[in-house]
Amino acid sequence: MRLRRLVHASVLAVVAVGSMSTVAASAHDGRPQQPQDQTLRSLAARHGLYFGTAVDPDAYAGEPLYKTMVDTQFSTVTAENAMKWESLEPVRGQYNWGPADALVDAARRNHQLVRGHVLSWHSQLPGWLVAGIDDGTIDGPRLRALLKQHITAVVTHFRGRIWQWDVANEAVSDPWETPGAIHLGGDAGSFKQKFADLVGPGWLAEAFRTARAADAKALLFYNDYNIEAFGDGGPGDKTQFVHNLVKQLRAEGVPVDGVGSQGHLSTQYGNYDVLQVADALRRFTDLGVAVALTEVDARSLTQNAGDPALPANGADVAARDQAAAYNYHVLLQACLMNRHCLSFTVWGFTDKHSWIPGWFKNPPEGLGCLWDAAYNPKKSLRTVQGDLVAAGPPLVGQRIAQQPRR
Ligand code: XIL
Repeated sequence: MRLRRLVHASVLAVVAVGSMSTVAASAHDGRPQQPQDQTLRSLAARHGLYFGTAVDPDAYAGEPLYKTMVDTQFSTVTAENAMKWESLEPVRGQYNWGPADALVDAARRNHQLVRGHVLSWHSQLPGWLVAGIDDGTIDGPRLRALLKQHITAVVTHFRGRIWQWDVANEAVSDPWETPGAIHLGGDAGSFKQKFADLVGPGWLAEAFRTARAADAKALLFYNDYNIEAFGDGGPGDKTQFVHNLVKQLRAEGVPVDGVGSQGHLSTQYGNYDVLQVADALRRFTDLGVAVALTEVDARSLTQNAGDPALPANGADVAARDQAAAYNYHVLLQACLMNRHCLSFTVWGFTDKHSWIPGWFKNPPEGLGCLWDAAYNPKKSLRTVQGDLVAAGPPLVGQRIAQQPRR
């Protein structure tokens, strides 16, 4: 009960400062308000940076606390699933715009920008499309035509209301897949590879051109995971592959405006330092594109460190909590250091509504968000707030707006 009351008190404080855009003076004594009492959106606005979250429409509609947090803490939102093809066109030829429209309308009311996610991806496709690919009734040319039609329909529907579109998502393989040299597609024999083979290598350029034809102003992004830092530059270096890809597309005049680095990190793998990530972002922005951190979370094992059959104990959780905070710090600092890094979006903000436990089950992982499952602030949140307050000139300046490429 006591805990509950505390949580509600902090949420009220959040609501009270929700619309501020700079570090504000407290109403009572004229002293600057403490960073922990300010919203992420107001702290980020000091740098012209947009701070975002993925939104789950069920939680948004069903849970007032969740809704309040989305409405007040963030300046950009992404539909966690509602703009994916399987959500928009579950029945062939019948688009269901309702949930996605509701999110975009709410964003407008809250003065938030929207990241559109996602137009072309091998995953979360409608059942009818997957069935057609599997039984051969949808061949390469048909798939390309359907994708083109889909991109045109969706981008046209939302024209003028989307800031950044993830035009293509996760189109390339990982180094642990077969063959090990990074390529368009995925593991040999996987659906991801089949999809890539069907659409063919020219597909990416066509997808971006199709999106541009339907919306002259939205920023068009290539989005992927495990591209936070460069490796050795060799055939197994995914970041290098994506860099080459974007460079090639830009050289051909394809309207790629940005690269989205998802930022799904896990504390069990150690990860990067600030300068490594800053270097990667700089190498991308040197190509003339903007960058964004698009799906940040930092998950941890939930098993006991000594005996995986037992749950994590207090010491395990404390250490992982620190490590997660460090991962957030690394990604945010690197983004702040690059004036072309336009937005920093977390993939959910409370452990209560996170994709992590449902997705990473073996071994089980969780605890990846800024707030815990009871909406209590975690060390990751305090770290992010501290970073946003401490940053400033000369190393951190105002963002430079990206111009859509025609
Ligand atoms: C995830 C969602 O969070 C889950 O709810 C869904 O079941 C699966 O997809 N990369 C992406 C996102 O680009 O769309 C994924 O979202 C997470 C990984």
